[in-house]
Amino acid sequence: MSDNSPTMAAPQSEAGSGTHASAMIDLSRYPVGDLDSDQGRAFADQCRLQYEQTGLCMLPGFINKSALDELASEAAVFSDQAYFCKSSHNAYLDGGDASVSTNDAANRQEQTFVGSVAYDNIAENSRLKHLYQWDPLKDFIGYVLGKSPFYRFADPFGACSINVFVEGGEHGWHFDESEYTVTLMLQAPEAGGAFEYVPQIRGHKNEKEIVGRVLDGEREGVVELPFTAGTLLIFGGNQTLHRVTRVRGSRPRLVPVLCYAEEPDLVNSESVRQLFWGRSAADAQPGATG
Ligand SMILES: [Fe+2]
Repeated sequence: MSDNSPTMAAPQSEAGSGTHASAMIDLSRYPVGDLDSDQGRAFADQCRLQYEQTGLCMLPGFINKSALDELASEAAVFSDQAYFCKSSHNAYLDGGDASVSTNDAANRQEQTFVGSVAYDNIAENSRLKHLYQWDPLKDFIGYVLGKSPFYRFADPFGACSINVFVEGGEHGWHFDESEYTVTLMLQAPEAGGAFEYVPQIRGHKNEKEIVGRVLDGEREGVVELPFTAGTLLIFGGNQTLHRVTRVRGSRPRLVPVLCYAEEPDLVNSESVRQLFWGRSAADAQPGATG
């Protein structure tokens, strides 16, 4: 750990006032606590429009400064339990297209090396779980995405996990399988770990050509999203090509991933659980969801 990394602190054993979700969020800037109020609804409408028009809704400073330090310290403690997965994949995260050359955009291979702390390895009384389990936040995100009904994901490992990129960690260019992803930027690495994307090119008439050019390293159309700790990001990842560049240095890049579903009790497949957490449901800690 470098000198400027957050102090490693044990998670709080009891939920004090500082651990309540509403005390962690800058509610004066982002009134997400009450969708039924005029102010709350107007703000959520703005966010929904931004998401519809650009494929992402970015809320910098969503977490206030003191809570941010505490959330990052907690996540650093939990990061010891990350399971690391190294894989090679195409931009579409599928088996590719055998009818075209290996150099085609459909077949080019990208590298990914990322760790993930499973939800059941995150303490019940942690700030992150208080935040994830706060209904107004779920309702706000569902509203922005235009989803109703909207539920927290019921997977014991993937409901809310923490992505951990250590030295050499990266996530190669890809489109997500899921329609949207919600992440919280908690801790930037010393270098690298940039989130780059090419907005809303899925289904574009030149999609394959654009993907091919980006895989070749061309920068035209590539946007870099600044990593500002405390930012909440709602991102339509299956329409937008994106990647995380290789991380350098001893301070890990820490990004919790908050997952939701349009059906209650929805979970990941066993193969996804094995891939990202190296475990099956039978190995889940009790009380993992909620
Ligand atoms: Fe992704």
